[in-house]
Amino acid sequence: MRDIIYFSDSKTVFVLDQTLLPFKVHYVEAKSYKVVIKLIKNLSIRGAPAIGVAGSFAAYLALRGLSRKPKDELLNIVIGRLREIAFARPTAVNLTWSIKKFENILNSNIGKSFKFLSKLFYIEALRIFNEEKKVSLLISRFGSELFSTNNKVLTHCNTGSLATTGPGTALGVIKEANKKNKGLQVFATETRPLLQGSRLTVWECEQNNIDCTLLTDSMASHIIKEKKIDLAIVGADRIAVNGDVANKIGTYQLAIVCKYHKIPFYVAAPLSTFDFECDEGKMIQIEERSSEEVLKIGGKLVSKASKIVNPAFDITPNKLISGIVTEKGIIINPSKKKIIKFKDCCY
Ligand code: MRU
Repeated sequence: MRDIIYFSDSKTVFVLDQTLLPFKVHYVEAKSYKVVIKLIKNLSIRGAPAIGVAGSFAAYLALRGLSRKPKDELLNIVIGRLREIAFARPTAVNLTWSIKKFENILNSNIGKSFKFLSKLFYIEALRIFNEEKKVSLLISRFGSELFSTNNKVLTHCNTGSLATTGPGTALGVIKEANKKNKGLQVFATETRPLLQGSRLTVWECEQNNIDCTLLTDSMASHIIKEKKIDLAIVGADRIAVNGDVANKIGTYQLAIVCKYHKIPFYVAAPLSTFDFECDEGKMIQIEERSSEEVLKIGGKLVSKASKIVNPAFDITPNKLISGIVTEKGIIINPSKKKIIKFKDCCY
């Protein structure tokens, strides 16, 4: 399979439409930044690092059609478009983080030609793509040290090659651990409402010859106890300076159950997912998505409920987290004192 997002020879963007997986591998051609925004919003491309990369490809496309604009007008239009991209989804910090890089490029090249800016944007988008690939390889290697023979690991949502440009974060760790240790068993939650676990994680595990068992979200505490799960590992969408973690809805309850059963609960994430301007989890905006996603399963209406909540993420407090696996190593018992040291360490 090709990368989940790539530039064609004519520099349009192609995005793997994950809403069709696991039944169809189909790439959508995005000729404008507006199309990429739509693909981010509807979760055709998803997962915090992948959203950051998609945002950067969209930033390049945001310059399209502006070659004849006067330089001052060009600047204002591009700034507006970059803001639009940054707000496509609010919780994963990777999106605003990558867009900030393009704003910085604009600000340090005021008055430069359209052609020059366009080249810089293209180079930066590819750099972010490649760096995210490298860091996900490092995360996978560091995290795999947490595993031993015959381990049973629980994971949530999808955090693999579909969510990054490399092997993944939590699922990348699992893939690497599976290469090193015999008898690894993965337990993957289905991850309602949009089923990133059952549709995507199970598919990725199959492709990597990983023994994977699917469970519904409500089975998790029973399975953790009965199957004697050894550890849980999940990804993150935004990590506050004190180590509180925003991740896919359902993460918090898994962390509580793991704490109760004295099972280590790890988070794997690149430093691009740390928000050094956010002191604690309660400052993180949680994306509220359409009620239709809860009312329907696989596109079919299953409820007539009139009052619905649909937060896409929740916050797991730092005290429930055994460690955060990053490209610079594992931060055990995350705290402000430990995390702040990584402030300027991201690529
Ligand atoms: O709504 P999604 O599918 O974008 O949510 C994804 C998650 O919550 C992942 O766990 C997180 O982004 C980390 S992906 C490496």
